[in-house]
Amino acid sequence: MDKEKIGLILSEIEKYDAGNPESIEQFRVHYLGKKGILKSLYAQLKNTSPETKKELGLLINSVRAAVETKLQSLNEKESAGAEKTDGKDLTRPGENLEMGTRHPISIVKNEMIDILKEVGFMVSEGPEIETDWHNFTALNIPKHHPARDMQDTFFVQTNPDILLRTHTSPQQIRVMESTAPPIRIICPGRVYRNETISARSHCIFHQIEGLYIDKDVSFVDLKQTLYFFATKMFGKKTKIRFRPSYFPFTEPSAEMDISCLICKGTGCPVCKNSGWVEILGCGMVDPAVLDNCKIDSTQFTGFAFGLGIERPAMLKYRINDIRMFYENDVRFLSQFVSA
Ligand code: DAH
Repeated sequence: MDKEKIGLILSEIEKYDAGNPESIEQFRVHYLGKKGILKSLYAQLKNTSPETKKELGLLINSVRAAVETKLQSLNEKESAGAEKTDGKDLTRPGENLEMGTRHPISIVKNEMIDILKEVGFMVSEGPEIETDWHNFTALNIPKHHPARDMQDTFFVQTNPDILLRTHTSPQQIRVMESTAPPIRIICPGRVYRNETISARSHCIFHQIEGLYIDKDVSFVDLKQTLYFFATKMFGKKTKIRFRPSYFPFTEPSAEMDISCLICKGTGCPVCKNSGWVEILGCGMVDPAVLDNCKIDSTQFTGFAFGLGIERPAMLKYRINDIRMFYENDVRFLSQFVSA
């Protein structure tokens, strides 16, 4: 054991710099541990001649002191650094950011909007809290008209003229009252009905309203527009059919069915073995509605349609319970991926 070697060890200790608590600990073990440098230096001291023992012993003690001083300064530096970073370990790998996904209703809604925009419809959104006038009266559903029973309504308790809209049709009225024809709009949105909640119906759901008003608009335009929409949305092989129906705000009125996407029209539980699924109501805007909005019904005609979003979404994703849309269960929601 010579002094030179100890000198080398001392300068090594002097130069040492540690970046984190683990390397400080390694340093400590390397010098002071059971199998550490100091242990072996003291062991070698035993075999040293009595003359040099004292001198060497002092040198080894100075190594120990150097290690302890170094450890103290490394620890001080480390804890000062930790304070600066607010106790956080900045060397830790970052946590993965969970990306959100679009709600399936939004995915289907956006798809529908994109298709209808292609044929010139513009989006117009309206309030969910509506007046009786916009939701019923202007749409040719006067007070005490039996058609009001078709849609069980949530009223604002203190004011029977204020309600949660039962359909997106009131936005037709708002646009017609404020815009001169030609009008070509779609109104997507949430609607409310006081219905018993079950796997097939809910008190909240979504619709897209369509309205086209111009000179010489006919039922042919309506059929062609909806045919374009249905084949783009559900595929070229999808068949459509119109059934006569009744809505107070359209005359004539119809409902449109598409051939069932699940069984391709051969019959299954989803289409109740009929091979057809209803997706919208439509018709030619009743002249009384145009008059209510001060649009000259002798000059202008138009068509309207009200398209549900939940049912096509359930067909597309094979969802058999409408309540899933509103439960906010991340295991359900994270399955949907949009473009
Ligand atoms: N508003 C109707 C409903 O919710 C759907 C509807 C039918 C809208 C015919 C229309 C239409 O614009 O022309 O039941």
